[in-house]
Amino acid sequence: MKAPRIGIFCSGGDSPGMNAAIRACVRMALHLGYQPIGIRRGYTGLIEGDFVELSAGSVSGIIERGGTILRAGRSPAFQTPEGRKQAYQNLQARGIQRLIAIGGDGTARGARSFLGEYPDLQILLLPGTIDNDLAGTDYTIGFDTAVSIAVDAIDRLRDTAAAMGRIFLVEVMGRDSGFIALYSGLAGGAEAVLVPETPTDYEAISAILERGWRRHKTSAILVVAEGDEAGGALLAAKEIQRRFPQYEVRAVVLGHIQRGGKPTAFDRILATRLGAAAVERLHEGAHSAMVGIQKDEIVLTPLSRVSKAHHPLNPNLLRLVEILSL
Ligand code: F6P
Repeated sequence: MKAPRIGIFCSGGDSPGMNAAIRACVRMALHLGYQPIGIRRGYTGLIEGDFVELSAGSVSGIIERGGTILRAGRSPAFQTPEGRKQAYQNLQARGIQRLIAIGGDGTARGARSFLGEYPDLQILLLPGTIDNDLAGTDYTIGFDTAVSIAVDAIDRLRDTAAAMGRIFLVEVMGRDSGFIALYSGLAGGAEAVLVPETPTDYEAISAILERGWRRHKTSAILVVAEGDEAGGALLAAKEIQRRFPQYEVRAVVLGHIQRGGKPTAFDRILATRLGAAAVERLHEGAHSAMVGIQKDEIVLTPLSRVSKAHHPLNPNLLRLVEILSL
């Protein structure tokens, strides 16, 4: 008898730790008697039938690698009923009913549309995005690595900022969420963080900078979330420069550097736990949910609730940045 199959794919933007999740899915699937099938390039591969059988050996040596061996991507074609029909037919032709999708908000939306039309499918989502913007999990796979990369950059910028007596505005990713900015700002000892979740108050920022100079601070780092209404680090830098023409202001956009490189141990462990749990839960019959982590426990959240509300920033952490910038 042929082993039942589980399809695995990554969709949307890649995030560090996706490979660790694939490895855990594949090896747990084999352990439970399934044949894991990799689907390349996310929903595009589903539509184009870009499938590959995965073995235990095919995921050797990937736990420490960034990116994703299955590749990722966004698929406009999957947003059409015709695209989803083709994808469904490809799955049927290969006898695949169970799917694990690794991705973020857009991936969750795609899975919901797919399930709305083909409810016989069993789909579980793994939260794979650096943005940490999914309700139903405390952390998404890749967030910790992105924060670590941003903190490393902030540390380096602090060196040159202090040597030159400059103000640096450092733009980090996160789409319309401020998690990467808040966490990297806190860890990097930033004077302020500008996040989309709170209104940007240049008066307050100016007061913080002036307070620092009064006690002879030699540098300032402001972390700007790309989605902040300030319009990014370049625009925010212009405004700060206008207010303080006597100081030299510089802006740095970290961009996709935050998505590459080795995942941290935290992301590898998170991805490994969630990947293994996804296969176990599919095996037990679970579907239409995201497998996340809350208070260190594996938790399933119905897909319908996953992207409705971003889980909010902790206001106490925002306050801490302000207080400790003293
Ligand atoms: O969602 C992950 C993310 O890296 C966001 O932080 C960022 O806004 C976006 O993707 C960038 O998308 P792309 O890789 O398509 O430029």
